[in-house]
Amino acid sequence: MHREFDSITEVIIQQLLGLRYTRYMDFHQNIPLKNYLTMRLGGVAKYMTEAHSPDELAAACRSAKQQNIPFFLLGGGSNVIAKDEGYPGLVVLNKVKGFDVIEDTPSYAVIRIGGGENWDEVVARTVEMNLSGIEAMSGIPGSAGAAPVQNVGAYGQEIADTLIQLEAYDSEADSFVVLQNEQCGFSYRSSIFRESATGRYAIYSIALKLYKSAPQPPFYDALQRYFDEVGVTIFTPKVVRDAVLAIRHDKLPDPQERPNTGSFFKNAIIEDWQLEELRKQWPDMPAYDLGNHNFKVPTGWLIEQAGMKNQVISGMRIHDKNCLVLINESAQSYADLAAAREAVIDAVRDMFRINIQQEPLEM
Ligand code: EPU
Repeated sequence: MHREFDSITEVIIQQLLGLRYTRYMDFHQNIPLKNYLTMRLGGVAKYMTEAHSPDELAAACRSAKQQNIPFFLLGGGSNVIAKDEGYPGLVVLNKVKGFDVIEDTPSYAVIRIGGGENWDEVVARTVEMNLSGIEAMSGIPGSAGAAPVQNVGAYGQEIADTLIQLEAYDSEADSFVVLQNEQCGFSYRSSIFRESATGRYAIYSIALKLYKSAPQPPFYDALQRYFDEVGVTIFTPKVVRDAVLAIRHDKLPDPQERPNTGSFFKNAIIEDWQLEELRKQWPDMPAYDLGNHNFKVPTGWLIEQAGMKNQVISGMRIHDKNCLVLINESAQSYADLAAAREAVIDAVRDMFRINIQQEPLEM
């Protein structure tokens, strides 16, 4: 164990010297992942280090490759879960900072943001600048660099709508690359980074195009209902941010107080003929037309109908305000979480013959 640690340290020092770096990268061993994941579960990371620059990120990834161990770039840990056996490789904490306006025109600005920045602080800054494009994604925990991985979205916006390009270290080609929006393969809560190119790219910056014009209706249902209730008719990025924060505060548990990873399941995507069949039995089943004969059915609704709301299974509570969320109240292990997950999946499958999918990534 120690010999291995020495060698990984040696490699990294050599590489950093090669890059004429002076900062010493500490490598830690057997670090409990639950301290870095908002679900507060999982085993240990064999190695862990921090990367404060793209060069450090590349150096860390190269070292892992040379040691023949996998690497995992971790941001805020709010959409990742770890198994009880832990992670057998190197976890790199993304600490690459930065917030720079790289283009400024009368109608829009392009901002480059370091992957290690806190997402909500980024949103707050752009809202202060009166820029529109990510204000509805206020209050989402996690880091900026993780946002493209699952194509983060909320209240009618998703990052695919504003992301121009991102910068990453390509561990396969051993080079820094710029990927344009179209190359990221964005779809609902997904991208190449969690599909075909899993583990290949370490994202260290994102560039977003944000507009100087005010946000325009139509707004996402829940948002519009809130505006109607409080009588808001003039819309600014700040007004939208405040509304979203209020709605989220009411519906979604704060991971700092009640460990969770936001939506634990993706909404279900089914075809028109399936919806037609299902509505014969459940005429009230909500569904949003995605075009191409596809419909999105809120999994929270399915779970609620299946009678799972507010149930506690192996220490995991199905959140009463939104059944998509699993809260770790007293679960001791990933196995507990898996038991709850399977119970929910089975209940929905038994009732609706729909296979729902987990949303957070698994290390
Ligand atoms: N619903 C229920 N029961 C529930 C939950 C929802 O009946 O327990 C119904 C609601 O009444 C509503 C519909 O389902 O008619 C949709 O619910 P909501 O607008 O609350 O959104 P969601 O589909 O549950 C998605 C995202 C959230 C995001 C919200 C708002 C996914 C997996 N989840 O949730 O994202 O904040 O929309 O845009 O797409 C996250 O990814 O971690 C997350 C929280």
